[in-house]
Amino acid sequence: MQKSRHSGAQSAISSFSGPHVAVIMDGNGRWATAHGLTRSAGHEAGLRTAREIVEASVREGVGTLTLYAFSSDNWKRPTPEVTALMRLFRRALLGEAKRCLENGVRLTILGRRDRLPSSLRHTIEQVEALTASGARMHLRVAVDYSARDAVLRAAAALRGDGVTREQFSELLARVDHDRLPACEVDLLIRTGGEQRLSDFLLWECAYAELLFVEKMWPEFTADDLGEALADFRGRNRRFGLAPEQVAS
Ligand code: FPP
Repeated sequence: MQKSRHSGAQSAISSFSGPHVAVIMDGNGRWATAHGLTRSAGHEAGLRTAREIVEASVREGVGTLTLYAFSSDNWKRPTPEVTALMRLFRRALLGEAKRCLENGVRLTILGRRDRLPSSLRHTIEQVEALTASGARMHLRVAVDYSARDAVLRAAAALRGDGVTREQFSELLARVDHDRLPACEVDLLIRTGGEQRLSDFLLWECAYAELLFVEKMWPEFTADDLGEALADFRGRNRRFGLAPEQVAS
């Protein structure tokens, strides 16, 4: 995480050094349609891109990478698409676990678990245990994730009053099965041309730099990530301060 001495909003610092990049991987379906393919083929292509971007993120020194794979609202999609996605997630986790382990990547899943197929839940537990020692980069995949629901569940878990932002961040992580505190997003990238947050990491994005990319997710490359990070490094982050205070 890029450290800020200035922001009261900065919450618990993750142990992974390097920026926290969050990605809304949008555009698989439109990319597939444009290429005469099924939506499922679009998600398969999206998975290939996700692999490439995970590898590139490790090389680029990203500390935490959070990928939005399935929102709680995505349950409303046609059942065959949802079923295919759940199968794809399980296959992806099984396929990636060893590579994560070899590359020092800790892989965790963020979101509700109670509505996932039990086979996927079981795989998540296996993969999280296998990669728990990874210290180079934290890869979080958000599945059945809703930021607003997470805030509501964290608020419901509050005891007494006077909670700090740090304590709330910890609660927020805990309700979504992340043992590490919810860390602030430094850079949020959304592919697919839309410019919205779609219920993703609303608390954690309080001071995120936003980057909206026209390319569909399957077209996004390691070079695009490199450019996004270069753009991010050139930004002037002020966290509410006046420009002169930040320059000093
Ligand atoms: C959004 O595109 C994408 C999804 C809902 C699924 C994302 C899943 C992957 C990329 C697979 C990666 C999996 C792992 C485990 C990292 P869309 O279908 O909304 O596209 P559209 O807006 O063009 O219809």
